[in-house]
Amino acid sequence: MAEAVRPAAIELAGLGARYGEREVLRDLTAAIAEGEVVGLLGPNGSGKTSLVRVLSGVLPRYSGSARVLGREVRATPRRELARTVAVVPQEARVVFRFTALLVLLIGLHPHFGGLDFESVGVFALARAALARCGAEGLAGRLLAELSAGERQRVLFARALAQEPRVLLLDEAVSALDLRFQVELCDRLREVAAAGTAVVSVFHDLNLAAEYCDRVLLLHEGRLAACGPTAEVLTYARLTAVYSTEIYVDVHDLTGGLVVTPLSSRARRALALGREESRSDTPASPARVD
Ligand SMILES: Nc1ncnc2c1ncn2[C@@H]1O[C@H](COP(=O)(O)OP(=O)(O)O)[C@@H](O)[C@H]1O
Ligand SMILES: [Mg+2]
Repeated sequence: MAEAVRPAAIELAGLGARYGEREVLRDLTAAIAEGEVVGLLGPNGSGKTSLVRVLSGVLPRYSGSARVLGREVRATPRRELARTVAVVPQEARVVFRFTALLVLLIGLHPHFGGLDFESVGVFALARAALARCGAEGLAGRLLAELSAGERQRVLFARALAQEPRVLLLDEAVSALDLRFQVELCDRLREVAAAGTAVVSVFHDLNLAAEYCDRVLLLHEGRLAACGPTAEVLTYARLTAVYSTEIYVDVHDLTGGLVVTPLSSRARRALALGREESRSDTPASPARVD
């Protein structure tokens, strides 16, 4: 497989993390290569955001090892990490009255330091990134006054503008409408094709199935499974990890996976169908259509 020969961008070895007494990540061992799109999946509270926080240097008191581009995260100054790792957070803290454009410019600061912004074309870079996310019209708007989906597009654009070698996204498309979900996930594949390692938390398993080369499935802070998307996303595994019945099917047009959580109504209908077919079977003669 092409991915197997690519250098690892992220290496976790026996990684553990806790908030005080609460252990939230336990003994995670995995590697993510440059150019891969890897889905980080798992139920609420399984540790996805905590793992993103470890990798972005926000949670430096972890045990074991977490290396990004060969360097141990806890030993890498935040500013240096920010030059190679971009994050689209689950929730943006909107404290100041910043416009979208200014948010991108601030995000670019670790890359250009004290240089004159205009002389290095930073404005052009920021505007181009906004345009790639369909957010060019939001440049002059205050982040605090945007809808959740608009804000996600701006934060996505901020991450793309940084041209990171490692891109971490935490439910970054959860508030987007279907068009923007597809467009922004398409951007993920583009940046991965250019060599960036992409790790993205998804709650929508259909999007994960469509866009991820591999997935890491977390369950109560442990790695329940790690591997090619189609191998990990199975009825039995998802049903066990998410504690609700989840069907996995193959789309008849695209050949991709379709992941469907079953409502209690659908479960009842299926159970009824099974009962009917059981009672049909002995009576009905074999049919050849
Ligand atoms: N700042 C915090 N202090 C204490 N516990 C926390 C904190 N943040 C998250 N947790 C706990 O850590 C666990 C993992 O949380 P998180 O990584 O946010 O999960 P996920 O992103 O998969 O929903 C949860 O049980 C959560 O309650
Ligand atoms: Mg989370």
